[in-house]
Amino acid sequence: MTESEPLPEHVAKNRAYWDEINAPLYAPHGRASWATNEITWGIFGIPETELNVLPEVDGRDVIELGCGTAYISAWLARRGARVVGIDNSEEQLKTARALQVEHGLDFPLIHGNAESVPLPDASFDLAVSEYGASIWADPHRWIPEAARLLRPGGDLVFLVNGTFWVLTVPETDTEGAAAEQLLRPYFGMHRFEWPDEPGVEFHLGYGDWIRLLRSNDFEVLDLVEIQAPSGAAQPGQSLVDPAWAQKFPAEQIWRARKVG
Ligand SMILES: C[S@@+](CC[C@H](N)C(=O)[O-])C[C@H]1O[C@@H](n2cnc3c(N)ncnc32)[C@H](O)[C@@H]1O
Repeated sequence: MTESEPLPEHVAKNRAYWDEINAPLYAPHGRASWATNEITWGIFGIPETELNVLPEVDGRDVIELGCGTAYISAWLARRGARVVGIDNSEEQLKTARALQVEHGLDFPLIHGNAESVPLPDASFDLAVSEYGASIWADPHRWIPEAARLLRPGGDLVFLVNGTFWVLTVPETDTEGAAAEQLLRPYFGMHRFEWPDEPGVEFHLGYGDWIRLLRSNDFEVLDLVEIQAPSGAAQPGQSLVDPAWAQKFPAEQIWRARKVG
């Protein structure tokens, strides 16, 4: 399935960034994750059995918004979910398709923008995103879209960078990991562009997330703030110091339920 609408500017930029730069860098992580069976979250690989953020998925319809190499989709498909993945990067989906073949697992993968999904209203019981649409799509567009796609009572579970991390991480990778000093304002958080990266990210403050979710008929169930396990190793491809992440949440998972 392919898209027909013109892409918003940030989506076009992120497509080029993921197709041309990031996809090959993320393929090894995707491959390693497909090869495991345990569901884990984020850079420290915290097991779902500890966090318990997902509902029962067996026999349920699930969409992964910004699935990338689609290892979360694969984990859920192996647990009996009817999964669909959508991603903005054809290169990421190429890796996902190759891994589907290698692992003998088949589920639909759509090349498209998670802010405008070519699927009918109320077709899913769970929408999930881990560093996918959750940080690379505009929340004012993808949250209403998730609400449209979910059935009443359906769950939305998404992982994003922790708010403290977003406010304390230096502008460029060469300056190192987040420290304990706020470097930018909290009020007005929305679109972020880093000087050494061509992509566009989106991060909101807590109140803005809550208001956005509630105004789209979601009840907020939880905000799980992930603490790095003691003795955690430096996570690959990440500007997070494990000692810092023992004191502050480097990642947070929102859980919400569609009520209307
Ligand atoms: C870090 S990956 C997340 C997927 C997976 N959890 C992982 O860690 O590989 C980010 C993904 O978001 C996708 N993405 C960015 N903007 C998107 C959008 N508007 N709609 C759908 N996918 C998007 C990118 O193409 C990329 O594959």
